[in-house]
Amino acid sequence: MTIRALHVASELYPLLKTGGLADVAGALPPALIERGADVRVLLPGFPSVAAGLTDVRTVAQLGRHFDAPDVTLEQGTLPSNGLTVYMIRAKTLYDRPGNPYLNDEHVPYGDNAQRFALLGWVAAKMAQQLDPAWSPQIIHAHDWHAGLAPAYLKAAEREQGRALAHSIFTVHNLAYQGVFPAHQFGQLGLPDDFFSVYGIEFYGQLSFLKAGLYYSDRITTVSPAYAREIQTLAQGGGLDGLLRHRSHDLSGILNGVDYTVWNPTSDALLDNHYSVTRLAGKIACKEALQKRFGLTQKNDALLFGVVSRLTEQKGLDLLLEAVPEIVKRGGQLVVFGTGDPALENGLKRAAQTHPHSVAVELGFDETLAHTIVAGSDVIAVPSRFEPCGLTQLYALAYGSLPLVHCVGGLADTVVDASLENLADEIATGFVFERFELKGIAAAIRRAFALYGRRTDWKATQRRAMRQDFGWGASAERYLALYRELV
Ligand code: ADP
Ligand code: GLC
Repeated sequence: MTIRALHVASELYPLLKTGGLADVAGALPPALIERGADVRVLLPGFPSVAAGLTDVRTVAQLGRHFDAPDVTLEQGTLPSNGLTVYMIRAKTLYDRPGNPYLNDEHVPYGDNAQRFALLGWVAAKMAQQLDPAWSPQIIHAHDWHAGLAPAYLKAAEREQGRALAHSIFTVHNLAYQGVFPAHQFGQLGLPDDFFSVYGIEFYGQLSFLKAGLYYSDRITTVSPAYAREIQTLAQGGGLDGLLRHRSHDLSGILNGVDYTVWNPTSDALLDNHYSVTRLAGKIACKEALQKRFGLTQKNDALLFGVVSRLTEQKGLDLLLEAVPEIVKRGGQLVVFGTGDPALENGLKRAAQTHPHSVAVELGFDETLAHTIVAGSDVIAVPSRFEPCGLTQLYALAYGSLPLVHCVGGLADTVVDASLENLADEIATGFVFERFELKGIAAAIRRAFALYGRRTDWKATQRRAMRQDFGWGASAERYLALYRELV
């Protein structure tokens, strides 16, 4: 039997991306389709989404909702792979260029509750024949933006007295909870009793994330380690009680890599290519990267790269503290990202202090991201917490050894180059246990030590490149969940 599933998300690569969620929304549905499921995606009609779809046609006129006068549901095709994408057109809510969540001053839009309530509401309508030609058996909602989908679905099922669809809620990041003032509850059109501890109420406010966790039939998150971590008081963000209560419905399924996009042998965004058996092209990538960032053109300078959102989560303040450790050993550092202004300034100052060995650029650019992942010797991901992390997986594929904090998906995917792990031929990177300068500095020293032993370095690099983090195994696990529900 073919299972019909609707993925509900706020971003999708290559249409719109602020982080790894877009990569997952872009790669998981095709991986499920390849394995026989009938999967479609529902997105808000942001400008880049509307501009990137072909064969767009109207499915339904919905009238006025959440203060938006003419809501319509449209259906289009993603040209790169033929994926069917539904998008919600609501000019007053979605027709804003740039970041989908924040205004030009990096402040969340004042009407985000309405903007993303509409997403969840339409998702639930999809399970009620909104598109007469296709209706999902599974609503698979991602992160807080889609968190109300399971709630609207449960409300509709109660009203109609029958089951409509099953729901899965995937947590990509528990730190973003979609919390709004309680007085906005009235605008959501949910039954009154949903505003409860046993519902979407969260410390006197509303939480879209909690709605997803509470009303979905199954919860997943993006790595086994993170699934355990979020059930603890320390890392549960106030939701650990609910998560422990639902632990039988909660599982961790690791994200995968789309190797058609992230592959050093064929990467369309690189001038030079290389493979596990022919590494020469990687040297050219490193030279190009040093040149691009104005660093000393020195092939044997150990080059650390960072491609990241610059937020508290990513732990780059700790890396900043360790910059002297890198520089005094003759290493180099390239940082590319955007986010928190204080962090941006701190990084810029480090670059001014060490102009030939540290370079920082602010921005978001897919080509530059690939250039750095390919040209670096080490990719640093020192996150305080990391639900899965994709950057370290891309780094492995490109033979750029990841240097990571032992947490969440980072702990699940990178094996430290300790003597015993090298001896057992399982090392793939550098892992530090405690989030403190001593820990990261020791990992940095391990990277230099291994770099000094070229044969071991190359062997580790090749092992990293041979790791298979493709979507296959993970897509099978999602399918097993779907089958269990249907
Ligand atoms: P998160 O989703 O928390 O940001 P992930 O590691 O899962 O972390 O995913 C980050 C994704 O965003 C990767 O595809 C990475 O290449 C990309 N990325 C992060 N910062 C930038 C940037 N400044 N420019 C381009 N891509 C970026
Ligand atoms: C989130 C997490 C990241 C994860 C990504 C995709 O943004 O921070 O760890 O890889 O979602 O699931």
